[in-house]
Amino acid sequence: MLKVSNLVKYYKKTLAVDDLTFEVRDGEIVGLLGPNGAGKTTILRCVTGIVQPSEGRIEIDGLDLEHNEEEVKRRIAFVPEVPTPYEMLTVIEHLRFIAMAYQTMDRFDQRAEALLRRFDLYEKRKDLVLSLSKGMKQKLAIACAFIHDASVILLDEPLIGIDPKGVHELKEMIADARGAGRSILISTHMLDTAERLCDRIIIIRGGRILAEGNLETLHEQARMRNDATLEDVFLTLTEEESTAEHSTAPL
Ligand SMILES: Nc1ncnc2c1ncn2[C@@H]1O[C@H](COP(=O)(O)OP(=O)(O)OP(=O)(O)O)[C@@H](O)[C@H]1O
Ligand SMILES: [Mg+2]
Repeated sequence: MLKVSNLVKYYKKTLAVDDLTFEVRDGEIVGLLGPNGAGKTTILRCVTGIVQPSEGRIEIDGLDLEHNEEEVKRRIAFVPEVPTPYEMLTVIEHLRFIAMAYQTMDRFDQRAEALLRRFDLYEKRKDLVLSLSKGMKQKLAIACAFIHDASVILLDEPLIGIDPKGVHELKEMIADARGAGRSILISTHMLDTAERLCDRIIIIRGGRILAEGNLETLHEQARMRNDATLEDVFLTLTEEESTAEHSTAPL
C-alpha cells in the first residue's frame, strides 16, 4: 500500500506539487491524469526517492520513506518517463544487474526468459542495449520493473512508443499485479485505456487534485451525465480550472 500525505515539491520557485494527499491500496490500480506540467512525473519521482520532497510524507506498507529509505526503495518498481538504461550491457546482463540490485535472483533464468519472450526481446538477449530501438528500450525498462517482486509499481507514461502486443502484455501484467495484491500507480494521457484499466482515477492540475474516484464519482464531481466518457470529464474539469486561472497579463 502507498500513502502520500501533504506532499509539496518546489523546484526553486516553481510549485510543482501543492499539498497532495492520496493513497493506492493493495490490489488497486490508480490512474494519475493531468495536462502537461500538472506534476505527475514529480509525484512519481518523489515517491521513488529520486526527487527530495519539500514537505510531506511517503509511506509504503506503513514504512516511512524518509526513515526507511533502503527498505522502502526495495519495495518499489518504477518505469520512468524516459528510460536511461546502461547501454553497454547486453539485454540479459541488464536484467540480471537489476535483479541482483534488488537481491531477487531466485529462478532468475526462467523469470527473465518469460519476460523477454513476452516483450519479444528474447532474440535480442545477447545484444547491447545500445543497439535496441526506442520501443525495445521501453520494453526492457518494463521488464526490469517486473523482474523483482515490488509491492508498489509506479509507471510513468509506460504505453508510449510500444507496439500493440507490448501494450497488451503490459496491461495483462498490470492486471495480474493487481490480482497479486500490488498497488499500482500509472500516469497516462491515454484516457480510454485509463478508463478501462484503472479502479480509480486522480485528475491533477497545477500540482493539486481536481477530482478523484471511479468514473461514477468523477461524473458527479464534474456535474456530468453518467454516460459521459472519461475524456469528457477530463476536458471539463481541466478546462474549468484553466478558465478560472486565465490571466490577461501580456506574454
Ligand atoms: N527538474 C526540474 N526543474 C525545474 N522545474 C521542473 C523540473 N521538473 C519539472 N519541473 C516543473 O514542475 C512542473 C511539473 O512538471 P512534471 O514533469 O511533474 O509534469 P507532468 O505532469 O509529468 O507533465 P507531462 O505530462 O508533460 O509529463 C512543471 O511546471 C515543470 O516545468
Ligand atoms: Mg511527466
